[in-house]
Amino acid sequence: MDDEFGRVIGRVIGRVVRLVETRRRGLARPSRRVRLDGMSREFVSDRALGVDASGIRKVFDLAAKLKDPINLSIGLPDFDVPPIGKEAAHRAIDAGHNRYTPTQGIAPLRERLRLDLSREMGRDVGGVLITSGVSGGLQLFMQSVINPGDEVVYLDPYFVMYKHLLTLCDGVARPVDSYPNFNFPIERVESAITSKTKVLILNSPGNPTGSMLSESDLRAAVALCRRHDLLLLSDEIYEPFRYAGLGGMYSPLLEYEKTVVLRGFSKSHAMTGWRVGYAFGYGPIVEQMTKLQQYTFVCAPSPFQYAALAALDESMQAYVEAYRRKRDIVLEMLGDRFEIARPEGAFYAFPKVPTGETASAFCQRAIDRNVLVIPGNVFSARDTHFRISYATTDEKLRAGCQVLRDLAGG
Ligand SMILES: Cc1ncc(COP(=O)(O)O)c(C=O)c1O
Repeated sequence: MDDEFGRVIGRVIGRVVRLVETRRRGLARPSRRVRLDGMSREFVSDRALGVDASGIRKVFDLAAKLKDPINLSIGLPDFDVPPIGKEAAHRAIDAGHNRYTPTQGIAPLRERLRLDLSREMGRDVGGVLITSGVSGGLQLFMQSVINPGDEVVYLDPYFVMYKHLLTLCDGVARPVDSYPNFNFPIERVESAITSKTKVLILNSPGNPTGSMLSESDLRAAVALCRRHDLLLLSDEIYEPFRYAGLGGMYSPLLEYEKTVVLRGFSKSHAMTGWRVGYAFGYGPIVEQMTKLQQYTFVCAPSPFQYAALAALDESMQAYVEAYRRKRDIVLEMLGDRFEIARPEGAFYAFPKVPTGETASAFCQRAIDRNVLVIPGNVFSARDTHFRISYATTDEKLRAGCQVLRDLAGG
């Protein structure tokens, strides 16, 4: 009898603890089946329900309905994979490189990257993990680092995935407003840091602004991370697209050991569909990411790892020059009617809507004129700016900018 009583009490306590934990983590309730908005969401997790469909997807869906739009919304290069990469992919497939690779990636690619990166960083960067695009690296990083309730600070506007990946880990996003210049507002960032802050994310050159953090911004960020003992995640996917030249301090890993860097081939070599990225830097975290890759992505696609290795021998500098020129077209055509922080990298500009309406309303008017641009509220708490991707032909870019000029009036 005493045993039975003990078991019942044990079960009740267990349920109460689970309920309290669920509430503490901000989840609605521990039900197996949720019905919301009259729609059946049976079996769907609270975690999945906490993620909103990307605003960019909504614009893409709209784009699919327009006939031959001027599309300034796409976040990928308008050139194709360099021939050397395509040939290497074909060769790899024909040679039978179609199976699993080691979790951390194929040895020749890892060794080549380790060599190149160590030269770039002025010291041995340690093991490099090949990931399924930078998105794969982001996911592995979050899963490796974030406990429920851990806080992560990053600048607003931001790359949308950060927020959603944090939701999936029950982490807490602490975006810090960086308008109007999109540099590193040290005081605002410092006041967002609490005892629960674990990570600072930097993304330079940045999506959606095209802005680059200056050397002094980066040094301030590094000093802050030292002061508060934070892990630094540096999303450097647009690192090759730096218009001011390739020297100087541009990666916090040059100065701060507790940095994990994510880079990839999606943008630099137009391989968005081939899913190859890489992570390197702070060893204890890269090690955990490697372990988790084993049970998630397993490995990056095998033939495309060989293609990425070959593509490293191709200079992409001509494309960078082309984007610098397109950036100049945007500034030349829109600079007098829009406030635009001068983009120093990537292939985005983030002008402010000058008409007093929201960016969503402005972008709707642009879409009505067959021009696709993305409202700032997709990337930000504000709805005042919009993102232009200038990775398109000069002709389309000029035509699109002309429509935007007209819409701005004046
Ligand atoms: C800042 C940033 N990080 C990461 C990614 C994801 O890149 P990938 O295609 O390599 O997963 C993107 C893609 O748009 C991006 O803009």
